[in-house]
Amino acid sequence: MSAAAEPTSPHVMNTYGRLPIALSHGQGCRVWDTQGKAYIDGLGGIAVNTLGHNHPELVPALQDQLTKIIHSSNYYHVTGQETLGSKLTELAGMSKAFFCSTGLEANEAAIKLARKRGHDKGIEKPQIVVYEHAFHGRSIATLSATGNPKIQAGFGPLVEGFIRVPLNDIEALKKATEGNPNVVAVMLETIQGEGGIHEMRLDYLQQVRALCDAKDWLMVIDEIQTGIGRTGKWFAHQWAGIVPDVMSLAKGLGSGVPVGAILGGPKAAEVFGPGNHGTTFGGNPLAMRAGVETLRIMEKDGLLANAEKVGAHLKSALQAAFEGMAGVKEVRGQGLMLGIELDRPCGVLLGRACEAGLLFSVTADSVIRLVPPLILTTAEADEIVALLVPLVRAFLAE
Ligand SMILES: Cc1ncc(COP(=O)(O)O)c(C=O)c1O
Repeated sequence: MSAAAEPTSPHVMNTYGRLPIALSHGQGCRVWDTQGKAYIDGLGGIAVNTLGHNHPELVPALQDQLTKIIHSSNYYHVTGQETLGSKLTELAGMSKAFFCSTGLEANEAAIKLARKRGHDKGIEKPQIVVYEHAFHGRSIATLSATGNPKIQAGFGPLVEGFIRVPLNDIEALKKATEGNPNVVAVMLETIQGEGGIHEMRLDYLQQVRALCDAKDWLMVIDEIQTGIGRTGKWFAHQWAGIVPDVMSLAKGLGSGVPVGAILGGPKAAEVFGPGNHGTTFGGNPLAMRAGVETLRIMEKDGLLANAEKVGAHLKSALQAAFEGMAGVKEVRGQGLMLGIELDRPCGVLLGRACEAGLLFSVTADSVIRLVPPLILTTAEADEIVALLVPLVRAFLAE
């Protein structure tokens, strides 16, 4: 197998540099390709497969739902939305949910909500503070909120109304917004995923919370990658002891079935009224069942504690293995969301890891990202380390 990306498929648009394999099935944290080769899954479908593959309780629940009703429409009540909404708001300490299908849709809803609240207060040109290196999606509005000129290139004009600031610098945030009556919200990821596993400091999150309170801005937290247990708490901002006004979720919420959501606290839950926002597929019965079962199984099987414990084990094993290795800048992240930053672009490792039977991704050109299923065991974490370290060592010695 070659490490090079496959030639463009004749009938699929060329939007991804794909590796030349296709996965056919999986079990737990292991997947197999169509040629029968096995891989340990350090990617979890990009932080999506919370419960791994072919979970013995999720699959029968989804099968049961398929025989009842898959999709009904938001013209009617969907009982699963109430069930999942009540569970999520309880876990988050927030008030109400809106359901959609993907991360960018959740962030679009959050941006619209923040703007609408501004308009309701008489602000005609609302502005939202966003961050350097942020990633919020690839629709035109979420791409505009994203802090990566490379992925914005070619899609201008971008949406106006965003103010960009550096991470972890409260003075910079205050300065960028000083005397500006149009600011309505601050939108951030607690750990930037696509941007290269950059963590917001807990005291910084608390400072932003206090500033949003003082200014009556919405604190919007994008937990699409960090949420649903990935860092060892239901939502990563909970490590800072704060509650956002709006939170966006997707990825791990449905364990592979597309589910997105925003949650709103008291300042945000009543902003939308009938006709303000909607989506055909959002919150359909199959998606809601996937969300409800994912959270139920996570709780029953103690997957938050597992993510924290196995994540800490994986991080310290990686730190120990890479200690003093020239070319490795840092091992960082929390729970089962880890990044290993090298001093050079390392996309070539993807194909080599694939050959060795390991899946992960590379973000921000030089950061190896591990976001495996939350059911990962310590033994599987050791397997990842055993496969990854020699690959990185050999690469850095070239
Ligand atoms: C933090 C964050 N926000 C938003 C998105 C966009 O989600 P989606 O790809 O489901 O649109 C992602 C996807 O990687 C993400 O990591």
